[in-house]
Amino acid sequence: MGTAVRELKKIAVHFRPVRGENGNGNFRPENLMDKFVIRGGNPLVGNIRVSGAKNAALPAMAAAILTDEPVVLENIPDVRDIQTERNLLVSMGAEVELGYGRASHRTTISCRNLLNPEAAYELVKTMRASTLVLGPLVARMGRARVSLPGGCAIGARPIDLHIKGLEKLGASITQQHGYIEAAADRLRGGHIAFDRITVTGTEDLMMAAALAEGETLMENCAREPEVADLAALLNKMGAKIEGAGTSTIRIQGVDKLHGARHRIIPDRIEAGTFIIAASLTGGDLNVTNCDPKHLGALLEKLAECGVTVTTNGESVRVTNGHRLKAADVSTEEYPGFPTDMQAQYMALATQAEGTSLITENIFENRFMHAQELLRMGANIKVDGNRAVVRGYTPLSGAAVQCSDLRASASLVIAALVAEGETILDRVYHIDRGYERIEEKLRGAGAQIRRIGEMLPKKAVAPAVMA
Ligand code: EPZ
Repeated sequence: MGTAVRELKKIAVHFRPVRGENGNGNFRPENLMDKFVIRGGNPLVGNIRVSGAKNAALPAMAAAILTDEPVVLENIPDVRDIQTERNLLVSMGAEVELGYGRASHRTTISCRNLLNPEAAYELVKTMRASTLVLGPLVARMGRARVSLPGGCAIGARPIDLHIKGLEKLGASITQQHGYIEAAADRLRGGHIAFDRITVTGTEDLMMAAALAEGETLMENCAREPEVADLAALLNKMGAKIEGAGTSTIRIQGVDKLHGARHRIIPDRIEAGTFIIAASLTGGDLNVTNCDPKHLGALLEKLAECGVTVTTNGESVRVTNGHRLKAADVSTEEYPGFPTDMQAQYMALATQAEGTSLITENIFENRFMHAQELLRMGANIKVDGNRAVVRGYTPLSGAAVQCSDLRASASLVIAALVAEGETILDRVYHIDRGYERIEEKLRGAGAQIRRIGEMLPKKAVAPAVMA
């Protein structure tokens, strides 16, 4: 009997399976101490359906601020960050209906009576994407008070480019007591050339410029599919945006936006996570409800490693039964290799024949998973923004700790191929961006279960970033 389980048995009295019994995605404080127990060695077989993209749903929900009419969003993922965004909008006076199960992952948001254009520290500290309300609030309400997000597990992550861009659109901005205070009678069109590519910066300012007076030209923009998806929604709301998805976006401001209905794109990072898991565990997995076009850089890299992947419409099939070859990778802005797949790729590199050099170019501190993979027996040397991974190294189950969303996904993948059992602690990091990952993996044959630990009642949500 593995040491991990012996440890578990000792404290079993405190455990009971928990998670959103009422199926409407309500995350409760006691989920915060959940753990996963994973027994490795099972090939993934069958289908796994991908949810809507968290990083497209969050800006889309913020976009509802731009109109006093209802915005209906479909294919919303049932993840903790969506709950946080809902709480943020409700704290401003919005009405937000969020439905799962029969209500099929849909949200209806009405910002008719926004009374309090403020994003409080208590919410922003748990999710930095909360800052996406800054541009829409100034554009619609003429003022905003948004907490600065503070430090983050994966890097400094300032929002100076959001602020600079808003100033270019005529907003007056002050900073005091940890808050950004922004005001403008009406924003006016301008020229924004980003010093560096920023995804939420592009989204935040695109939303602001949609209601500005006159034309805005934005250059060196992020080209992520989530940016283009947001522009598609805004144009359905009556905005005039051209070029989203390219590095140059032109926006003709309008006086008013109206309600709309929009289906959020699939989550390419969730899809990539399952594709890498299948590449390592062997088996025959179909990852469905995804968009292979958004996975170009990843699928190219996997082909280089010798993974057999076939795409067909909205699905990607992975059949791999042999040892992989090592291949170097460097993270870049889209359409380059995504930084949000770097950690999962590191797990793959531990199982590949040879040495892989992984270079992280987007965030300065995104190798937290390496320490935990070392605990499982991997051979990794980190030096600044580079990691040298030597494979093939057999992994063994261990107690490991999640530190941020994608690092946690990397540990789940490693545990699926490790000998014996792994206990993942603090899986609340995973719940932030993966919808019921344990149920999806179990449905494809993985041995994974969630164990909940009763938290003392007065427990509060820890500050989590990334
Ligand atoms: C988005 O974060 C994603 N989050 C991140 O996904 C993703 O890792 C990142 O883009 C890069 O692809 C959402 O979409 C909600 P950036 P964002 O602004 O927009 C620097 C996940 O796992 N920068 O493109 O915050 C910044 O520090 C998350 O789902 C400035 O210096 O990232 C970073 O080094 C993690 N000043 C780089 O630019 C600014 O004002 C890129 O950051 C803004 C950014």
